[in-house]
Amino acid sequence: MSNVILKVEHLCKSFSKDGERIEAVRDVSFELRRGECVGLIGESGSGKSTVANLIAGLETADSGRIVMNGTDLLDRKDRAGVRACRSKLQMIFQNPRLSFNPAMTIGQGIEEAVRYYQRIPAKQRHGMMLERLRQVGLPETYADKKAAQLSGGECQRAAIARALMANPDLLLCDEITSALDVSVQAQVMALLMDIRRTSDMSMLFISHDIALVSMLCDRLLVMYKGVIVEDGATADIIHNSQNDYTRNLIASVFTADEATMDRWQKERDNANG
Ligand SMILES: Nc1ncnc2c1ncn2[C@@H]1O[C@H](COP(=O)(O)OP(=O)(O)OP(=O)(O)O)[C@@H](O)[C@H]1O
Ligand SMILES: [Mg+2]
Repeated sequence: MSNVILKVEHLCKSFSKDGERIEAVRDVSFELRRGECVGLIGESGSGKSTVANLIAGLETADSGRIVMNGTDLLDRKDRAGVRACRSKLQMIFQNPRLSFNPAMTIGQGIEEAVRYYQRIPAKQRHGMMLERLRQVGLPETYADKKAAQLSGGECQRAAIARALMANPDLLLCDEITSALDVSVQAQVMALLMDIRRTSDMSMLFISHDIALVSMLCDRLLVMYKGVIVEDGATADIIHNSQNDYTRNLIASVFTADEATMDRWQKERDNANG
């Protein structure tokens, strides 16, 4: 069986803004293997979110192919197949409150993630929801709260619980720690590393924070003006990139010192067993 979870081929997407055509994503191709965690970096406006939104089906591609577990997600004829496949793909956003309907409780919101895709008896679904809350380090009592009653970090944990509810094969994370305090950011990163260690889920992790990306990801994709300009092992790209854009990007945002890098490298090695 193929180890490739996601195959993106020649993906293109343009927008028109103020009468101008913006080619947000231009001929993007890459693969993600099972259990692999790939970072997607690039300057603001380079097209990172658009790539994730296209994979998640939140935007419609102009052309190209997105194949997940062998199913062509852009196939308009195979709606049932695409729907089933998409249930194994979950996305988490910068603003976790957007993952929850403000009128619903967190518990209802988490259960919703599987309600329409899988026939699970209500009682069992409830039990799964409580289990996911525990997994992300939230007390069961949070099931009865509304999103507005949670702090940003708690709400992001709840959003992760919601994403995990469907046992996804692929998790798309778009700047999920950018809105959080540094200490809370570290907790969410620890949770993600824990998920990595204990499951064979694949992740596409978008962040402008290269220190975070290098801590979590085996491989990096570097985007520039809608194009992937580099695709390679994290350490190679961070330390040996020959690409001027990548080097500037890393130099401009990479503030961690050597000792911190070493520590993260060790943590990563431990996490990878
Ligand atoms: N819905 C939209 N309508 C018009 N233009 C859009 C839309 N979404 C994205 N764009 C444009 O497409 C380009 C890529 O945007 P995108 O949000 O994918 O970048 P990004 O790499 O995620 O940036 P950031 O790091 O700031 O989040 C930008 O020029 C943006 O203005
Ligand atoms: Mg973005």
